[in-house]
Amino acid sequence: HFTNYEQHGLMKSEPGGFLLTDEYARHAKEIARFQPRSDDVWVVTFPKCGTTWTQELVWMILNNCDPIGSKAPLIVRSPFLEYVSCWEVIESFNKTFPCLPPEHSKMLITLDMVEQMPSPRVIKSHLPFYLLNPKLLDTCKEKVVYVARNPKDVIVSYFHHHKLIQFHNFTEDVEKFAQYFMDDELLFSPFFPHIIEAWNKRHNPNMLFLFYEDLKKDLLGEIKKVATFLDKSLSEEQLTNLKEHLKFDTFSKNESVNMEMAKKLGGFNPDGHFIRKGKTGDWKNHFGPEVNKQIDEWMEKNLSGTDLKFTTEL
Ligand code: A3P
Repeated sequence: HFTNYEQHGLMKSEPGGFLLTDEYARHAKEIARFQPRSDDVWVVTFPKCGTTWTQELVWMILNNCDPIGSKAPLIVRSPFLEYVSCWEVIESFNKTFPCLPPEHSKMLITLDMVEQMPSPRVIKSHLPFYLLNPKLLDTCKEKVVYVARNPKDVIVSYFHHHKLIQFHNFTEDVEKFAQYFMDDELLFSPFFPHIIEAWNKRHNPNMLFLFYEDLKKDLLGEIKKVATFLDKSLSEEQLTNLKEHLKFDTFSKNESVNMEMAKKLGGFNPDGHFIRKGKTGDWKNHFGPEVNKQIDEWMEKNLSGTDLKFTTEL
């Protein structure tokens, strides 16, 4: 059930539910019925928790760190499940990346084409588990990598994302944005139920729960952890190269992941970057003491009764 939600022209999945786009609402049933495959890997996150970074990490491990294949846009190699209508974007990406076969350029992003993608598929979703096929992490033996990040940096990152992408049309300041975030009034909100639902599934053998801050602290260790989870072994040379490939400075310049070409299509503000800063603790440059205290209280309230803990500085 969806109801119009007035704040930002979004749709609410049910009273008290998640805020999603009307485009999603039109496809919600098909998305919930979308069949996982036993050799899929799903990267599931709340936005701005390190999704893109993890998709690339997973894709590289599954594809033996293929240097040519990885030049195709990540959005094609690892489609965004609930974002089913962006084929025009893909078509334009194809002009930037001639290595992508033109006959695939328009279609990969539709649900039908994601269904037909060759295995192993790497599927991205920002949906909470309960809106995905119930077979996921149940009867199907696919794998899920879930990535969480401390909410203070998520708020900052999501604020810059709202400034970058014109669709959001966000003109207020970061502290106002933090209020919207804590009031669950932004796309894919609410934050805590999303993360806690996943946290409660972390012992499922087909689920790997990661933290952005651990990727920052020990990228090589986390690469090895993901490779073990995916039953893949990488040579020392591959590990070294992959660590270099995923390093922020390299990653932010990598055109297949950084979305810079999306600026040519409009819809992105020219002065921002999708792979923006890549730091833990950037919230300190954004929140005054009063808002910071409110966020602390909001975190404490939402985390009470769970053993989930976030790292807000490294
Ligand atoms: P910031 O806005 O704080 O810089 P998502 O992919 O889920 O949208 O997450 C985006 C966030 O992950 C952005 O955070 C982005 O810079 C960060 N990120 C992406 N690639 C990264 C990398 N290689 N190293 C560190 N952070 C990265």
